[in-house]
Amino acid sequence: MTLLNKFADRVLPRWSRKPPLAKGCLAAAALVASADDTVSLARRATIDGILDELHDQEGVRLDDLVRGFQNALDRLRSDSGAARAAALASLARLADDPASVDVLLRVARAVALADGGPSAEVRHLVMQIAGALGQSPGELASPVVSDDLPASGPGRVIVVANEKGGTGKSTTAIHLAMGLVSRGSKVACLDLDGRQGTLSRFFDIRGKAAARADTPLVVPRYRGFQDAGDVAEAELEPRARGRFTAALSELADHDVVVVDAPGHASRLAAVAYEAADVLVTPLNDSFVDVDALAQIDLQQRQVQAPSPFCRQVWEERARRERSGAPAIDWIVARNRTGQLDSRNAREMTRLLALLSRRLGFRLQPGFSERVVFRGLFYRGLTLFDLTEADLPHGGLASFEHARQEVAALLDAVATAAGRSTTGQTE
Ligand SMILES: Nc1ncnc2c1ncn2[C@@H]1O[C@H](COP(=O)(O)OP(=O)(O)OP(=O)(O)O)[C@@H](O)[C@H]1O
Ligand SMILES: [Mg+2]
Repeated sequence: MTLLNKFADRVLPRWSRKPPLAKGCLAAAALVASADDTVSLARRATIDGILDELHDQEGVRLDDLVRGFQNALDRLRSDSGAARAAALASLARLADDPASVDVLLRVARAVALADGGPSAEVRHLVMQIAGALGQSPGELASPVVSDDLPASGPGRVIVVANEKGGTGKSTTAIHLAMGLVSRGSKVACLDLDGRQGTLSRFFDIRGKAAARADTPLVVPRYRGFQDAGDVAEAELEPRARGRFTAALSELADHDVVVVDAPGHASRLAAVAYEAADVLVTPLNDSFVDVDALAQIDLQQRQVQAPSPFCRQVWEERARRERSGAPAIDWIVARNRTGQLDSRNAREMTRLLALLSRRLGFRLQPGFSERVVFRGLFYRGLTLFDLTEADLPHGGLASFEHARQEVAALLDAVATAAGRSTTGQTE
């Protein structure tokens, strides 16, 4: 079990009854972070992970948490002696509860040890925190168990993204995730579209259905992210990076993490593109959606300009390649096909083939327009949970085709590995 799991298990159920404990956690994190002049990226990522876990609780706002942490940090830096004593005194007020003490010490240790070798100042402060909480320094000196701070990520990261809204991202992410589960993978999901939260909502419903079901329903581990809130511009990028990296580290023991991105540009999504082994972009079978990938001169059949989304994918792909990681395999999957008349369908196929070469993606047939892709949402189910007996009269053929469509996309995703495709405009 990772540190943040333990943190979530122990702290969060107590949040509603004990807000001072959460404040104490922020104070402990700020105390340790303020000991050195700069907060390292690794330490910042650990703090961000802690803020995120706190924030997942109902009624807790991320901006308030970030502001609370930032205020504590500023106060400690500007007036360190007195402010430090006050922070330690406020922690000491929680010292009569052994469980709180344990959590606070874990936060302090996690922040202190996030980047490997804590400085003498950091060590001293953690000792002071232990002292205020009535713990012996000897216990604190013991090393943190290594599984608390996983260094590696999950086996594979599949990001489903398109900065155009309503193209079928969440539908695709849910079906990929449940398809991978049906093939025996250990899957987790991240929902970057906190405002809408379609994927989280689906798994919330599935969780409730699983509690009622006679036959077991697998519910992958999942979590949502909210917007970064009131954070200074310069902080957005490192904060997004820290939050996403911490989440991936938490899921290091999973075979696959499926990420559902929002239908608009976001820093968090850009960080996710870079982390993607496979980037799946669903595209409605409509010329409007094609235009969101690139502007095209239809007469000349030429790409005039890639879209901002396409440029962002190229940028993250280049960044990833510079870091020595295998290239992102970009798959564009058509969605809701079968609605165009045959002439327009042919034109669409030609256009997408041209774009595939110019922009550097693989084209997949994707999903047809089918009730089974949307009709099971409120039951928390996908077609992988159905048997023939559940189908309406005459529905078997469509169901089988739908399964084959998902299987084809799963196969395409499975074959993606270290391909090097570079996009270019004409
Ligand atoms: N293949 C399909 N067949 C039928 N309905 C579909 C299909 N794919 C998606 N839909 C429906 O289209 C709508 C948009 O799908 P979805 O929410 O998955 O898109 P999205 O890209 O995640 O949207 P957003 O950008 O708002 O997050 C939903 O009503 C969904 O049920
Ligand atoms: Mg969505």
